[in-house]
Amino acid sequence: MSARAIITADETAVFVRELDRPYPLIVKGEGVWLHDANGHRYLDAVSGGAMVTSLGHGAVPSILDAARRQAEEVSFIYNVHATSPAQEKLAREITELAPEGFTRAHFVSGGTEANELGLRMARSYHVEHGDADRHLVVSPAQAYHGASIATFGLTGRAGLQSPYQPYIQQQPHIPPSTWSFDPTGEGALRALDEVLEGVGPGNVAAFLAEPVSAASLPGYSPPDAFWRGLEERRQKHGFLVWFDEVVTGLGRTGSWFAADQAPIKVDIITTAKGLGAGFAPVGAMLVHEDVYQAVAQGSRSFEPGHTWDGAPLSCAVGSAVIDRLKREGLVDAVRVRGPWLRTELARALEDFEIVGEVRGRGFLLGVSYVDPADGTSFLDPDLRVASRIDVEALERLLLVYSTQPTADGFAGDQTLLAPAFIASDLELEQMVERLAATVGVIEAQVKQELATVHSAQTV
Ligand SMILES: Cc1ncc(COP(=O)(O)O)c(C=O)c1O
Repeated sequence: MSARAIITADETAVFVRELDRPYPLIVKGEGVWLHDANGHRYLDAVSGGAMVTSLGHGAVPSILDAARRQAEEVSFIYNVHATSPAQEKLAREITELAPEGFTRAHFVSGGTEANELGLRMARSYHVEHGDADRHLVVSPAQAYHGASIATFGLTGRAGLQSPYQPYIQQQPHIPPSTWSFDPTGEGALRALDEVLEGVGPGNVAAFLAEPVSAASLPGYSPPDAFWRGLEERRQKHGFLVWFDEVVTGLGRTGSWFAADQAPIKVDIITTAKGLGAGFAPVGAMLVHEDVYQAVAQGSRSFEPGHTWDGAPLSCAVGSAVIDRLKREGLVDAVRVRGPWLRTELARALEDFEIVGEVRGRGFLLGVSYVDPADGTSFLDPDLRVASRIDVEALERLLLVYSTQPTADGFAGDQTLLAPAFIASDLELEQMVERLAATVGVIEAQVKQELATVHSAQTV
């Protein structure tokens, strides 16, 4: 068979993201399969690499029809001047699917924009109430909320923020309640109390979290005790609770929003990826009626300012995606099949000593790797396990997404799986098998390298 079609940094006019990484040249997608220019078929276990294509790749006729019809009618109108049936329809549909009490949606082009807006909304809510001191957003440090300077500050990750540190308004953070740090959530609540006391609760506008984390801590969610403790503190101190559902929204964890599964009242939800499902860049900020009323009874103006907000074409695609999810019962299917997938993954990886934990909900799963010497420490970053996993997986024609945020202090090497909701059982089994084979190869290499280091140290 011919070689895989690969483009490297010195062969392209594209300013690629990682200059030492080979990029497969993908010419076609079908379901969970991506075809390169030489006919190789990659199995996509991360919905287009970024948890986006929850309906799979390739033509979904109802979505293409909706996009074409909308483009023929009116593709773009700036929502400062006018609205459209497409924007009106999507706003009605998404607020009906959102948790009870959510009554307004503002559409944007992606997750970062949604979170920029969430930040401004949280602040504006308090300003509208005449409480202008509130400006801080507290959140778990090990998170990802987007690639703008403001959203970098919403995480507590030095590795992510470098070299833009001088531009960043650093927000306060707490550690995640992972099994190795704080399995009960009590430590995170104590840290939250310390932060509140330190900055003064009257300065806190919101608490922000990914209800189930994506790439930064794949498949992790805090224990319910944490959410309950957070709810108590919110009632006592008057800050808002904001969920970043850029990944989890639109069914990825087995309910329309992951907020449906958390025992806490949420005020703001930001979402994106699965709303356009790869057919259009569209995201949304959704707000509870209480938040909306702050503006409705206050200044009566909240100006987001992005050109593409609520464009008819993107909104028509969003509605067609929701229609497809509903008609095929895909969110329920994720809820039912998610635990099976997680069990299969855990079983396939159970004998590996570098696998510390398999976790997650619905079709948002994570594998964390540990040092086989003690089964708990992070692996030495110099071993580059995350990037080796991705490269080895690609050799096996499997697309996964691994990260190594070790420098941030809260997680080591880890791999994310977030398959499309339409994947068949057989395809999911193949993803698990290929990942297990990949981990087997890397584990053998790592153990050998660690043994060599150890024997050199003992000589
Ligand atoms: C949880 C979360 N929030 C926000 C974002 C940013 O979204 P976007 O890349 O669409 O700007 C991402 C992207 O991966 C994400 O995973």
